[in-house]
Amino acid sequence: MKKDFVSILDISREELGELIATARRLKEERRVGVFPPHLSQKTLGMIFEKSSTRTRISFEVGMYELGGYALFLNPKDMQLGRGEAIRDTARVMSRFVSAIMIRANSHQSVMELAAHADIPVINGLSDLEHPCQILADIMTIMEHLHRTEKVRVAWVGDGNNVCNSLILSTILTGMEVSIACPPQYQPSLEFIKTAQKEGALLTIGEDPLAAVRNADVVMTDTWVSMGHEEETKERERVFGRYQVNADLMTHAKPGAIVMHCLPAHRGYEITDEVIDSNRSVVWDQAENRLHVQKALLLRLLA
Ligand code: CP
Ligand code: NVA
Repeated sequence: MKKDFVSILDISREELGELIATARRLKEERRVGVFPPHLSQKTLGMIFEKSSTRTRISFEVGMYELGGYALFLNPKDMQLGRGEAIRDTARVMSRFVSAIMIRANSHQSVMELAAHADIPVINGLSDLEHPCQILADIMTIMEHLHRTEKVRVAWVGDGNNVCNSLILSTILTGMEVSIACPPQYQPSLEFIKTAQKEGALLTIGEDPLAAVRNADVVMTDTWVSMGHEEETKERERVFGRYQVNADLMTHAKPGAIVMHCLPAHRGYEITDEVIDSNRSVVWDQAENRLHVQKALLLRLLA
């Protein structure tokens, strides 16, 4: 059976532990210049319906460093953009490449691709989830706090795709997540229920101060995710009080770290002062995309 990575819950708690361990080994090997070609002759097809800096570069460099090859595919240049069915694209790509990574407008497209491809499909962000990001976030939390169990994570801002994957990830990590979102921008209720059924400690509210109180980690993301640009004015109005700034950080634990998946909108969801402070681990977080996705590719392809 081929394996996909469409949701963060496509791996078990045990597999997550193995992935992080492999990612840490690969990070150390890279540091000393060791690049075993585990994926020689393997090709990753990467379909991007939306912009990307980190996801594209980390997957492309990752495949190269593992001895394989990555193909950047813009759907506008593919027949997909002229109406070729996703299921037909899935079948054809299965004959050429070893795995597909897709960044899609709709989560439905990722699921359809996975259902019809004979090869592993990786979700490189959809409107519903961003599981690769959360893998890197977990690795970063492990590096800085040396555990995930009972780590208190505050999410401040939009209840978006990254927030949704964070919620589901609590089932695997034992992290305690406290969310502050405006009522009309709450995360997936279904995911909240799924996590709570598994015993996750989740608090969903509207008050950023309450969410960050005693937090070990303060996380945020853009107020305007890709695909919501036309709502920018309204969102900036509603999210005004959901900014991660120095004042808000005084309510977190004294050693709390700050995380942001990037790209950041400085002066909106996070201030320069905070993102450039020594509490910010955002650059480690971005780098870890590379290591953890290489580990993921090995799991799916080696
Ligand atoms: N965090 C993240 O996925 O960044 P990109 O949109 O640049 O890929
Ligand atoms: N929530 C953001 C994440 C970007 C990496 C978006 O979907 O645009």
